[in-house]
Amino acid sequence: MATWSAPGKVFLFGEHAVVYGKPGIAMAIRPRVYVTVRHSKRPLSVSSPYIQSCFTEMGVTGSVYINSQIPSSSGLGSSAAVTVATLCAINDEFQLEKTREEIADMAFAIEKKVQKGRASPTDTTVSSYGGIVLITGTSRRRLPPVNLHLVIGDTLVSHSTSQMVEQVAEMKKQHPEIINPVIDAIEGVTMSAIHHLNNQKELGRYMDMNHGLLDALGVGHPALSRLVLTARMAGAFGAKLTGAGGGGCMIAICPKALKHRVAKAIEGHNARALVTGIDTEGARKEKNV
Ligand code: MEV
Repeated sequence: MATWSAPGKVFLFGEHAVVYGKPGIAMAIRPRVYVTVRHSKRPLSVSSPYIQSCFTEMGVTGSVYINSQIPSSSGLGSSAAVTVATLCAINDEFQLEKTREEIADMAFAIEKKVQKGRASPTDTTVSSYGGIVLITGTSRRRLPPVNLHLVIGDTLVSHSTSQMVEQVAEMKKQHPEIINPVIDAIEGVTMSAIHHLNNQKELGRYMDMNHGLLDALGVGHPALSRLVLTARMAGAFGAKLTGAGGGGCMIAICPKALKHRVAKAIEGHNARALVTGIDTEGARKEKNV
């Protein structure tokens, strides 16, 4: 029996623009998915296409038990975390000796296949390695970790990443003269933010700008806007939607002393709040489960 865990993630900057080869910055966060895999001759029968694909790609059969702290379909990378942790647990249980890099690549290939080609390697990279990662096209660079005080607000409004990605593609096709400059501007925000990762106040301002640009791309939602404004009014340095939008989650970067006040304000609007920070470890073996 082998148990591995992998963290969820938030996009700090650049979601949607990454789909067009622009840079994105994402950070691993503390909630994790725990996956236990055991040798078993009986073929696996699970409903998750991600887990099914992990066993198929690794060419083994086994049983699997999952315990997740990450809400699914919220934009916090739960499917990538499940995929990465399952591949690591299979690798360990069956002594397949794949490297972390091979696992990250396999996890991305599985996400891409299950999501019908509409995925950037962001979620699987961040979940595999932890920390803060700059993604540009297929290249990935770890940025120095910083201790950001984040509050995540989950609107509890369900959304579909592939639908939102498709919606942006359609807007881009119909209004290239408007949408292309918006995507370029998101790139500008991301590239500027890289130089201010240690300055939370400045990062907050870039988050506000990024949120406005995502709204212009048409991936906002009234529930997201409400939580973003609520967080700013409660003292956050800045706030934006995170992930695909159209529902799902927002993030606020906060002064340490105000993070619980921001979380409480968010919870006052039919939403779930999570006070969190960086996870620097990525996928890891769990011993005492
Ligand atoms: C979804 O979390 C973020 C998007 O940029 C899609 C992706 O990067 O795979 C919308």
